[in-house]
Amino acid sequence: MSKTIKKICCIGAGYVGGPTMSVVAKQCPHIEITIVDMNAERIAAWNDENLENLPVYEPGLQEIVAEARGRNLFFSTDINKAIDEADMIFISVNTPTKNYGKGKGMAADLKYIELCARQIAAVAKDDKIVVEKSTLPVRTAAALKSILDNTGNGVNFHILSNPEFLAEGTAIQDLINPDRVLIGGENEEAIAALVDIYAHWVDQSKILTTNLWSSELSKLTANAFLAQRVSSINSISALCEKTGANVDEVSKAIGMDTRIGAKFLKASVGFGGSCFQKDILNLVYIARSYGLTEVAEYWDQVILMNDYQKQRFADNIIQTLYNTVSGKKIAFLGWAFKKDTNDTRESAAIYVADYLLNEQAEITVYDPKVSAERIYADLDYLNTRSSEENRLLVKVVNTPYEACDDAHAVAILTEWDEFKSYDWKKIKDQMKKPAFVFDGRKLLNRKQLEDLDFKYYAIGE
Ligand code: NAD
Ligand code: UGA
Repeated sequence: MSKTIKKICCIGAGYVGGPTMSVVAKQCPHIEITIVDMNAERIAAWNDENLENLPVYEPGLQEIVAEARGRNLFFSTDINKAIDEADMIFISVNTPTKNYGKGKGMAADLKYIELCARQIAAVAKDDKIVVEKSTLPVRTAAALKSILDNTGNGVNFHILSNPEFLAEGTAIQDLINPDRVLIGGENEEAIAALVDIYAHWVDQSKILTTNLWSSELSKLTANAFLAQRVSSINSISALCEKTGANVDEVSKAIGMDTRIGAKFLKASVGFGGSCFQKDILNLVYIARSYGLTEVAEYWDQVILMNDYQKQRFADNIIQTLYNTVSGKKIAFLGWAFKKDTNDTRESAAIYVADYLLNEQAEITVYDPKVSAERIYADLDYLNTRSSEENRLLVKVVNTPYEACDDAHAVAILTEWDEFKSYDWKKIKDQMKKPAFVFDGRKLLNRKQLEDLDFKYYAIGE
């Protein structure tokens, strides 16, 4: 008999904590879930009556929050209270790449995780199951256990690893219908308690249990394999552009081999998102720290190829626009790292913009879900130029037509569906001639655009 979980606390109300726990609350109305965060503004946004103001945009999320919030789903800044009352605590805080000290630029920064462990240890007055939901370097559970056992009040802690595989933009659908749920642990009863929760909506055959280290390492490995597929097809896209092959046709031809499979073979301007790069860097760092140089170098190439792809896209724009973009207006359609999300972390758009700004381009951005503040913050974070210069050179507008008005070129950075249905004739009429489109997502229809007299360039063609 496993322990029945009545109350859950989730520390971290971000892109993972928010949607994940909302779905658990929806599927398990008998469990009371409190999501806590030290960021009071974020919690206030999760509690906002207007669901449009939730801090995370995901299709289907608003409906679930509307159903569960105030019933068995709560958002709070009172972290201690939620820890104290919970039987099970999920840690879902950020684990960014370290930007200081040993491992700078490579290793995962575990300071937020450690803070959580110390707070749990200080507060807990009865036994708790602590679940690693964040993506962590393999063997982090050992460090967590040491902190919990040595700084706690003599209560028992069982640690489980339960990495999250959701992708942004499809988070709700991924959570409701996951390919698998992975639970790593040592204590059978604790494992069973978490299995029981998922079993409310996930078929038992899809709930996989392993030891802690396999579970932690599987998460980094899954992201590395996914990113590697994107870099692999992007490397071929460069070859397609030289040879007259079409990368979509190559993807289709290889993807029909069931050993290869069709997914994650879409050539692009480069992968973004908060995790692929961070997790591969982390994997590379771990391999190096065990002296596995060849392993480290193998995975490092995935990132180098991604950097090359972003640079190549920007270089092609410059070269095609007669070798200079100085003083030219380039319209960016899309800033998010993929469609159906307002997340811009590590988005290829940021780096392509930076290269073009170095060449004194003037950029106008339209993204249906990303705010101007976010875009400026992304550019300021690079520290390439002052924030005044960023504001001078980059304009953020509210309609695509404003973005494209009088532009020398349009660059598609995100694959938002709505871009396909714009009035491209109107856009062409507004633009400088020849009117160039650089499609970093292979989203638009070449024939349609060429019939309208656009000069159309797409990745991998
Ligand atoms: P996020 O930055 O959106 O959210 C993390 C939240 O944790 C923030 O709101 C922050 O204020 C809060 N936080 C940090 N330390 C805290 C503390 N000590 N006490 C209370 N709150 C604290 O991050 P995210 O995108 O949700 O990612 C979280 C983890 O999940 C990461 O390890 C990431 O690698 C992993 N992951 C992310 C995704 C994704 O799609 N974003 C998918 C799978 C796994
Ligand atoms: C990815 C993984 O897919 C999730 O399983 C994982 O949980 C998550 O990382 C994480 O750990 O954070 P996510 O980054 O949200 O999810 O989105 P993806 O759909 O994987 O896309 C990542 C990037 O790759 C995007 O920029 C996307 O445009 C790009 N991509 C993806 C391509 O360029 N081509 C493809 O074929 C697929």
